[in-house]
Amino acid sequence: MKAPISSTRDAIAVTAVTLAAFLAASVLDLQEHIARLTQPFERFQADELPVTLVVLSLALLWFAWRRRRQVAAAERALADALAENRRLSQRVLLAQEDERRNLARELHDELGQCLNAIKLDATAIRNDPRALPREVLESAQSIVEVSGRVYDVARGLMQRLRPVALDELGLADALRHLAGEWGRRNAGVECAVELRGELGGLSEQVNITLYRVVQECLTNVTRHARASSVGIALERANGELRLCVRDDGTGLAREAHGGVGLAGLRERVAALDGRLDVLPGSPCGVEIRASIPIAGRQR
Ligand SMILES: Nc1ncnc2c1ncn2[C@@H]1O[C@H](COP(=O)(O)OP(=O)(O)OP(=O)(O)O)[C@@H](O)[C@H]1O
Ligand SMILES: [Mg+2]
Repeated sequence: MKAPISSTRDAIAVTAVTLAAFLAASVLDLQEHIARLTQPFERFQADELPVTLVVLSLALLWFAWRRRRQVAAAERALADALAENRRLSQRVLLAQEDERRNLARELHDELGQCLNAIKLDATAIRNDPRALPREVLESAQSIVEVSGRVYDVARGLMQRLRPVALDELGLADALRHLAGEWGRRNAGVECAVELRGELGGLSEQVNITLYRVVQECLTNVTRHARASSVGIALERANGELRLCVRDDGTGLAREAHGGVGLAGLRERVAALDGRLDVLPGSPCGVEIRASIPIAGRQR
């Protein structure tokens, strides 16, 4: 980003140049020379030029002052629009999380209960003491198995829609749980979690943002990195939360990609006035860093 232009420095430069011009003109008797030079062109009113130029300078000064005020007003409007944008993003994300929570609840309460009932009925048929035909028993057994599998899929969906662990365990344990589950599904990849500082009592939005960042980073490692180890570090210090997820995989591909995962994370973090950086890991892999200020925010 460019350094802001310093008005004081510019004012000093203008004053210095003006004084230098005055001194030089005094030493050289410039006005007298100009008067002599313009004498033959008196009929063109050339000797009136200095006053005209002074007026032009004053007019330009006024012009610059007006533009400066306009720029300042435009900057204020832009800052307001950005703040409004951030507020809107926050509300959209909160509404989205709310909707996800409702969906997860519906899935659990409706689909989960129905599947359970189907499974219980099929189990009852399978275990019926009367001698039922073999095909009926096989069908019942198959229904028990399929309903179990569908329930597992629904549970996975519920978990993705709304991390129950976050509500039940709090951020620190939910992250450990998430990493543990991920490690179980990605055998062969070492996954270490390091948490420092007081992580209890953070706002719902901060919790869900950090959780989603870690979740997406781990998904990306599975999908893109071919890593052998992943490290998740989260610390709270100096009024901010710093999260770092690094892996030792193949690193970022050179060509741009139109994924929405990282862009979505950036938006989530920016909505909390934070920033998210995607960096090449050292010596290899990818490092995702997020920092979220919490000083002054409802914790
Ligand atoms: N840990 C990683 N290692 C290597 N490349 C990565 C890693 N994380 C992200 N990338 C690269 O960055 C790109 C963008 O990631 P992003 O999460 O935004 O999209 P995606 O994972 O491809 O798709 P989705 O929108 O489903 O998340 C990926 O396509 C991948 O090339
Ligand atoms: Mg992704």
